[in-house]
Amino acid sequence: MPAVTASAPGKIILFGEHAVVYGRPAIAVPVTQVKARAVVSAAPGSAAGQVLIEAPSIHQQAYLADLAADDPLKTALTLALEHLQISRPPACKVRIGSTIPVAAGLGSGAAVSVALLRAFSAFLGHPLPDEVVNALAFEVEKLHHGTPSGIDNTVITYARPVFFQRREGGNLIETFPSPQPFTVLVADTGVPSPTAAAVGDVRRAWQQDPPRYEALFDRAGELTRAARKAIEAGKPHELGPLMDANHALLQEMGVSSPELERLVQAARAAGALGAKLSGGGRGGNMIALVEADQVEAVSQALLGAGAARAFMTRVEAQG
Ligand code: MEV
Repeated sequence: MPAVTASAPGKIILFGEHAVVYGRPAIAVPVTQVKARAVVSAAPGSAAGQVLIEAPSIHQQAYLADLAADDPLKTALTLALEHLQISRPPACKVRIGSTIPVAAGLGSGAAVSVALLRAFSAFLGHPLPDEVVNALAFEVEKLHHGTPSGIDNTVITYARPVFFQRREGGNLIETFPSPQPFTVLVADTGVPSPTAAAVGDVRRAWQQDPPRYEALFDRAGELTRAARKAIEAGKPHELGPLMDANHALLQEMGVSSPELERLVQAARAAGALGAKLSGGGRGGNMIALVEADQVEAVSQALLGAGAARAFMTRVEAQG
């Protein structure tokens, strides 16, 4: 059996994080500068059913059977086997690598799940279609993130910008025209922040004061719709003030942090059209909308303000 490789990009949320968990729309785009990769190869010397998992970047090497029941890698592989109704896979080695920083709001967990589900199912001779990969990756997300909206696994599976809304009976997943490309800088506070913790804190705050949080979520949803209109109209520069406004709502939700504030302020002071935290918040990454000729100046300002790293991503024109 030939080795099979699959990869999946990272992601950023442009608008609507947290509110999306409560049924409001959000916009996310893939980030192809970072990716997770899974390689599955035959292990001819081993007994059938033995699946060795190697993840050198997290110093993990273990047989599938020996991993804890709630291990995310085990969960993804087991879900694939169950879906394909295979009880004893051929002996194989699964090697996982990722350049996506962990707990940084870039979707590292979802990207590993997607790459793994694709490579493993293809190795078994039954490559899973995107819909199934997305659904199974969501199951892994649920185990590890409590109450995820599903936007991370969706944008990463389909690897294109999505307008996403969680809905009973089937999520709304729409692509939309983006006639003008635009440039976004992504900067990492260097402070790891598991999404589940921030989502759990917002849930507790919402339970204590539902009207206040519902109003914040409503306003975030309106900003997301306005952002989609601006993108579709070929006016991405109009996203700047919308990003600033969305950041203010996230501050009110309690998910910003001193490090995020420093980076957001530095980006704006250096001329960015708008800036906000992206993803769960509390740490992790922020994003800034910039003109192409501002990339250098704003990157330097972000690094000067303490960013652990900063990189540029372009949201390409889509028909
Ligand atoms: C995480 O990328 C986005 C959140 O809205 C959580 C979720 O949607 O599952 C914070």
